Amino acid sequence: GLKKKEVNVLCLGLDNSGKTTIINQLKPTNAQAQDIVPTIGFSIEKFKTSSLSFTVFDMSGQGRYRNLWEHYYKEGQAIIFVIDSSDKLRMVVAKEELDTLLNHPDIKHRRIPILFFANKMDLREALSSVKVSQLLCLENIKDKPWHICASNAVQGEGLQEGVDWLQGTHY
Ligand code: GTP
Ligand code: MG
Repeated sequence: GLKKKEVNVLCLGLDNSGKTTIINQLKPTNAQAQDIVPTIGFSIEKFKTSSLSFTVFDMSGQGRYRNLWEHYYKEGQAIIFVIDSSDKLRMVVAKEELDTLLNHPDIKHRRIPILFFANKMDLREALSSVKVSQLLCLENIKDKPWHICASNAVQGEGLQEGVDWLQGTHY
């Protein structure tokens, strides 16, 4: 068959937000890891949809590794930004990291699509995706296509909606 178009995706967000769990769920069952551990540095993963082949840079969100993110911005053609919706204390830290990303010279003037996952929606204390969107001031992002989905990465809920959106944007 035809070779699928390849798209480089950066998976960003604070440590423990669920980035690796999300990416793992998007891989074919036989390629999925059973135990997920905190990412050291970053890991390169692949998954396919009906029309696209995604190469994901699954970055560590730990503070000491966040300075690695910017080295991959130029290569990124899409961003998946993951938020732990139950982590109210660090929502402001997530916003700071998002704002730093949006103001970076390699991102600022590009129409790079950003998919947000308001993850861990299964937890009782989780904020809604609307609330997360308000706290992160997503309505201020006017020069890039973006979309937010509530997700439960452990059960795989909400992920398909996000991937469908990513697949439907232009690269
Ligand atoms: P770093 O690699 O350190 O940046 O973290 P990460 O963002 O990759 O998070 P990871 O996928 O390692 O998940 C962190 C923890 O959150 C794990 O214990 C996951 O099982 C758990 N987790 C991930 N997604 C969800 C979710 O939707 N709901 C719940 N309840 N737990 C989740
Ligand atoms: Mg990880």
